[in-house]
Amino acid sequence: MNQEKVIVIDFGGQYNQLVARRVRECNVYCEIYSYKTDIEQIKAMNTKGIILTGGPNSCYEADSPTYTSELFDLGIPVLGLCYGAQLMMHMLGGKVEKAPVREYGKTEVYVDKTSPLFDDVSETTICWMSHFDYISKVADGFRIVAHTADCPVAAAENGAKKLYAIQFHPEVLHTKEGSKMLYNFVRGICGCAGTWRMDSFVENSIKEIREKVGGGKVLCALSGGVDSSVAAVMLAKAIGGQLTCVFVDHGLLRKNEGDEVEEVFGPNGPYELNFIRVNAQERFYSKLAGVTEPERKRKIIGEEFIRVFEEEAKKIGAVDFLVQGTIYPDVVESGLGGESAVIKSHHNVGGLPDCVDFKEIIEPLRNLFKDEVRKAGLELGIPEKLVFRQPFPGPGLGIRIIGEVTAEKVRIVQDADAIYREEIAKTGLDKSIGQYFAALTNMRSVGVMGDERTYDYAVALRAVNTVDFMTAEAAEVPFEVLQRVMSRIINEVRGVNRVMYDLTSKPPGTIEFE
Ligand code: XMP
Repeated sequence: MNQEKVIVIDFGGQYNQLVARRVRECNVYCEIYSYKTDIEQIKAMNTKGIILTGGPNSCYEADSPTYTSELFDLGIPVLGLCYGAQLMMHMLGGKVEKAPVREYGKTEVYVDKTSPLFDDVSETTICWMSHFDYISKVADGFRIVAHTADCPVAAAENGAKKLYAIQFHPEVLHTKEGSKMLYNFVRGICGCAGTWRMDSFVENSIKEIREKVGGGKVLCALSGGVDSSVAAVMLAKAIGGQLTCVFVDHGLLRKNEGDEVEEVFGPNGPYELNFIRVNAQERFYSKLAGVTEPERKRKIIGEEFIRVFEEEAKKIGAVDFLVQGTIYPDVVESGLGGESAVIKSHHNVGGLPDCVDFKEIIEPLRNLFKDEVRKAGLELGIPEKLVFRQPFPGPGLGIRIIGEVTAEKVRIVQDADAIYREEIAKTGLDKSIGQYFAALTNMRSVGVMGDERTYDYAVALRAVNTVDFMTAEAAEVPFEVLQRVMSRIINEVRGVNRVMYDLTSKPPGTIEFE
């Protein structure tokens, strides 16, 4: 991609993706690389700035992650954050040691406004601190430009060499003016013009796809989720009828979702493409009959999905390209770009390519974060309802029904979930809650309705706030909203006589139930 860019060198910090996202919010393209990346590769990138992330280690210990000090002599501005700041000082001759007072949480920082890092930042500002070690002495050529009550070097700079070190985390939202500081670095100090915009990204991608595909045939597996939908529309706009989308309805989608996907991509929708909907509901239900073990259920759904897709692909015959809705966090988490590889093996890549006869993969969203995918979707004119769809797991309602999956249970959970979503949307809470849905427990209990004894299922409502889906807190849905949802579910959904709210955070719970 011919874009001005800044790179993030990842030392294992939990916020590496957040740093890159914040930089992109300044309209500067940013990529993440492991600290193991060769300096020659970095030199060849023509990067305008380098950011070193935090990390869990102590830089003065023998086998801590490090880098060649040549990095600081390239003439490219470098900003070290937390561990990155300490490492910079340590390597350049300063002193880093265990802090007498460990700082954690929101902290008042006093900044020297003559530093270009703090242009337009308040003299006293709230920052997020999280460190055991501290910089007790800066390296030669550096001056201290911020401090706190307990931390003598909260930031330091060597203006002549364009090296900057910040002990706190400007990338997290708790640092009130953190975005401004990152903006000052990438747009001010690095001199980036700010050319990374979704409208031009979409336009360029469509052009590139056209050139790449030529007269070839392209196949896309459409799930109805945001990523594959945006990828499909981009392809449709680029190559129209050369694209075939296969949408497998496994019967584990949210209420009406299959029809909604068909409305957008089917023959009555706005795009010229070949749309194949496979109604495989019964096939999935019969495979899942009697199966209660969560991992087994996930495997069955995944395998069956591939099998159905394979059958369709065979009918279509050989294609030149296969589209995948891979996005940047998938790339980073798969260990292709960053250090966070081991944390999570993600669910979207793998499987499909083996069963399709194709020459090459096209991944038009490979460089985008989720919020950028959504912006690209809006640029492409995709309905907001689809663009702002909540995350939905590949195995669908199969993992929101505890125990055996049946058509009847799918109906219950679909109806309950639709009511829950409708009521949450009415209150406007849908804009602020990260993810929310109804699930069906495998618990039946005694109740009484209209003088009659009932023995029915309990529905569990879940709502979580999360930044990265790796940790989450239960959201505080107002009690009256929960009561309204409960009352509607019990009255409108046959087979349910109890509604519970799940208070569990992650960890120890996961967001989904299986
Ligand atoms: P958990 O349940 O692991 O969920 O806390 C974290 C996030 O990942 C989603 N999720 C999945 N997404 N395939 C997916 O594409 C899956 O198998 C899957 N399992 C969980 C979940 O909805 C939540 O956003």
